[in-house]
Amino acid sequence: MFIKQWYFLFFILFSCSPKPESFQELIEQLTLSEKIQMIHASSSFTSGGVERLNIPELVMSDGPYGVRVEHGRDYTRVKDFDDQATYLPKCITLGATWNKSLGVAYGKVLGAEAAERGKDIILGPGINIIRSPLNGRNFEYLSEDPYLTKQMGAGYILGVQSQGVGACAKHFVANNQETWRHDVNVNMSERALREIYFPAFKTAVQEADVYTVMGAYNKFRGTHASHHHYLLNAVLKEEWGFRGVVMSDWNATHNSKEALLNGLDLEMGTELSERVSDYDDFYLGKPAQALVENGVVKSAVIDEKIQRILWVMDQVHKFDLDRPEGKRNTRDHQNIARQVAEEGMVLLKNEQCLPWDRHVAQDIVVIGANANRKFCMGGGSSQVNAKYEITALEGIQRHFGQQAKISYFPGYKISKAQEKDTALMQQAVAAAKKADKVIFVGGWIQNWFSGDSVRWEDHIFDSEEVDKPDLKLPFHQRELLEQLTAVNDQTAIVLYGGGPVEMSSWLLQAKAVIFAWYPGMEGGNALANILSGAVNPSGKLPMTFPKKLSDNSAHYFAAYPGTNHSVNYEEGIYVGYRFADHKNIDPEFCFGHGLSYTTFEYSDLNIVKRDGQFTVKLTIENTGQQEGKETVQLYIEKLNSQIERAPRELKGFTKLAIKAGERKAVELQLSEEDFQFYDETDRRWKVEKGPYKIHLGASSRDLRVGAVIDI
Ligand code: GLC
Repeated sequence: MFIKQWYFLFFILFSCSPKPESFQELIEQLTLSEKIQMIHASSSFTSGGVERLNIPELVMSDGPYGVRVEHGRDYTRVKDFDDQATYLPKCITLGATWNKSLGVAYGKVLGAEAAERGKDIILGPGINIIRSPLNGRNFEYLSEDPYLTKQMGAGYILGVQSQGVGACAKHFVANNQETWRHDVNVNMSERALREIYFPAFKTAVQEADVYTVMGAYNKFRGTHASHHHYLLNAVLKEEWGFRGVVMSDWNATHNSKEALLNGLDLEMGTELSERVSDYDDFYLGKPAQALVENGVVKSAVIDEKIQRILWVMDQVHKFDLDRPEGKRNTRDHQNIARQVAEEGMVLLKNEQCLPWDRHVAQDIVVIGANANRKFCMGGGSSQVNAKYEITALEGIQRHFGQQAKISYFPGYKISKAQEKDTALMQQAVAAAKKADKVIFVGGWIQNWFSGDSVRWEDHIFDSEEVDKPDLKLPFHQRELLEQLTAVNDQTAIVLYGGGPVEMSSWLLQAKAVIFAWYPGMEGGNALANILSGAVNPSGKLPMTFPKKLSDNSAHYFAAYPGTNHSVNYEEGIYVGYRFADHKNIDPEFCFGHGLSYTTFEYSDLNIVKRDGQFTVKLTIENTGQQEGKETVQLYIEKLNSQIERAPRELKGFTKLAIKAGERKAVELQLSEEDFQFYDETDRRWKVEKGPYKIHLGASSRDLRVGAVIDI
């Protein structure tokens, strides 16, 4: 018995890579070519290891809301491999929950499933700011606001990394459009960069200790973001103290010397690009080795990259192998997916309509091709081979079908040509006329790697590589909606998608509108629970829904997508609601908007200043008949400001469940940092002295109580 135990201990200690006493000792043992192997891809989703010294490869996988379909070394599906996974609601849905603890739970699910699949790093969260509603990848991001993005992004990262897996804050920085994404040159003021586009990444580094950051495809002020001295060396590593690895986006590296000297630690990509036939031909492969051998680049530059790679390997237990095993496709994970969907769906409008009693015998007509469509494999690299996906139709059938007669009509056709199918439309309207209730399920769709006839170049999607042409609902849905809301005033409209659509032509006669985003594998169940009132909706818009595109600042200034592969963010700090408030524009639905089946009252506001901190206290009462969750939002407003600044800025929020008739005390903290603005002249943060109004409310335009403080 003793021999057996000794052998087992020996096996553990010496058969795997021993944890390096110090990385320096290990680095000194590595040859230059072995170091070069480690700083570029060894396959589509691994970076090079060094077998001689028991240094393993780093294994990574997309994506931000579920572990992606397996990509074997030859970039094709690994045959007969069970890569089914929990398909969490797409990230914008998480942003719409405004629930920080749910963000942590979301990250834990993702990290546990990545660990179980043998992945060291999961390539998420995407924390780029939503600048234009047309950006094809908004569904993968969290919000238009830097504070909401950083709070939800940090929770997600902490959740993932608690499972012994690395997260990846992406795409650093200013990847806010898909048009010309591989080379568009982005310019913006330093103040916009510091106040709007940097904060989520800074928080990811300084508060969530993210292990990896992915450089963006685009250029920034003339240089590719994936090898950018100011972004990666000066700010990320020196100013913010980032200890981990900067990896490029896939095939986002364009120059060996820049990659070596400007802060890129790891070049990722696939050898399927026309340039290389082997991973050693990567920019950080043989060409980089030659630059060191020729004395153009010091070997110490390589060693610093190796130090970072070994640090990440250590964080993800590549040496001690005591990473939690992880789990996949568990009921708990699926329950988190459903909770995120239930808390992320936003009840935009509800007038004498919802909720509907699911125990009543009635005729319910479900209309819309989206009701019967699955989205898990859509969107591009973030695709997930879901263990299952409950569509809206299935959810409604499961939850209402015991008593109600459910019938389904596509109503519109999803096709490349977007031809109008009059017969389908007439059939749906005729059915709606006679029904007790109508549920329309429409919105945007997704495509990529799927067999659908519609290809992503048709610009009607929420997908990587492509932006939308406008906010018009595709497939003639607008005309159908106008007819449905005219023939039945018990029509609930449910929209799937990564962002707003034009609604004005049918919104007035619509009684109820729910924005469901892409609610994941449990989406149909979550939707049915909200339609029936089993769950009280609590989602809040993480982005402004403008009445028309030109009400959005990027489009107002004609600064999207730019010209000749160059774009200047003319709007500066005025992104999203900051612009709407600055210009007194009424959006269709404002940032932070979301209704409940109950009502809440705000009272007893009291703000106490101590040691430079402000403690904001108030009481929230549920004055309705049903338990609900309220997100209390805190906005600051500088009175008589002497500088250009947004009228109000989100600087705090908390979400709490309150029973009918119950009152709860709420407490939020404000520090001096929350009042800062970035002074471009002195290139430093400052606080404008004088009076500020502190607003508390249920949205950026539904401000209930406030008080003036002095700084
Ligand atoms: C893609 C995406 C990035 C993804 C990577 C790997 O092009 O931009 O988000 O993680 O390549 O698939």
